[in-house]
Amino acid sequence: MSGLLSIDGKTALVTGGGSGIGRMIAEVLVAQGARTYIVGRTRATLDATAAELSSSGTCIALPGDLSTVEGGRAVAATFAAMEPRLDLLVNNAGSMYDAPIDSFTEEGWDSVIDLNLKSVFFLTQALLPQLRAAASAQAHAAVVNIGSIGGLRIGPKENYSYQAAKAALHHMSGGLAKRLAAEHITVNAIAPGFFPSALTPVDKPEIVEMMSNMVPRKRIGTPEDIGGTVAFLASRAASFITGAVIPLEGGMAL
Ligand SMILES: NC(=O)c1ccc[n+]([C@@H]2O[C@H](COP(=O)([O-])OP(=O)(O)OC[C@H]3O[C@@H](n4cnc5c(N)ncnc54)[C@H](OP(=O)(O)O)[C@@H]3O)[C@@H](O)[C@H]2O)c1
Repeated sequence: MSGLLSIDGKTALVTGGGSGIGRMIAEVLVAQGARTYIVGRTRATLDATAAELSSSGTCIALPGDLSTVEGGRAVAATFAAMEPRLDLLVNNAGSMYDAPIDSFTEEGWDSVIDLNLKSVFFLTQALLPQLRAAASAQAHAAVVNIGSIGGLRIGPKENYSYQAAKAALHHMSGGLAKRLAAEHITVNAIAPGFFPSALTPVDKPEIVEMMSNMVPRKRIGTPEDIGGTVAFLASRAASFITGAVIPLEGGMAL
């Protein structure tokens, strides 16, 4: 039973790992002993995060733009040139657009669907050789897709493409899970509620209080909450969990 909850020595890749929720996930993975690659468009942010997180382990910046299939394939090729195997892929990079229904744009539809849904499929496809190389009956490889509470229930914002992308991502995770289960690769989605980030700015105490009051657990999310859940899904303890959508929102969707 020793090592049941450990991810020590595993190799991980976190998209959008330079900031926000992705950085929270990377922080926990690095501290728990996973050699962790972080992907994003902004080299300076990635380098700064990689340098800071490397004080507790190994964190490597891997710049790239995942908004196109070609961009994702380029990231996968760079990764493959450095690592033969990938134990944990966290598809976290995402964006949100909201606008009143009458002025909602095609660009606001396409950009969100492309990054939050299409790129997840094609990056996972491009990294399958490395995931397969890591996966065995003794130790599964894990794909974790970061969905949203907004894919479980409709919130106050008019973010139609985001709602559609996240609900589809949850459902697609099940499709990938079913196909890849026999190859010892699990695929699960996490549906976060409020976590502080550029997407969910919490720059004033009143905002934190207002958000916390909407959550039965009476607080917003922390790095331990999201990073701990991802680490668990990559550990031996979660080998039999696949195709799940795990709400991580302090009971907000209840
Ligand atoms: N925060 C929340 O409360 C919350 C709630 C539910 C779900 N989520 C989900 O959690 C995930 C992370 O969100 P967040 O709140 O952390 O947002 P964020 O603060 O805006 O971070 C997004 C990250 O993705 C990267 N990124 C954006 N576009 C990219 C692209 N084209 N290629 C590569 N990387 C790209 C960004 O880096 P660069 O800009 O440098 O590329 C950044 O590191 C998203 O999928 C979001 O939908 C968040």
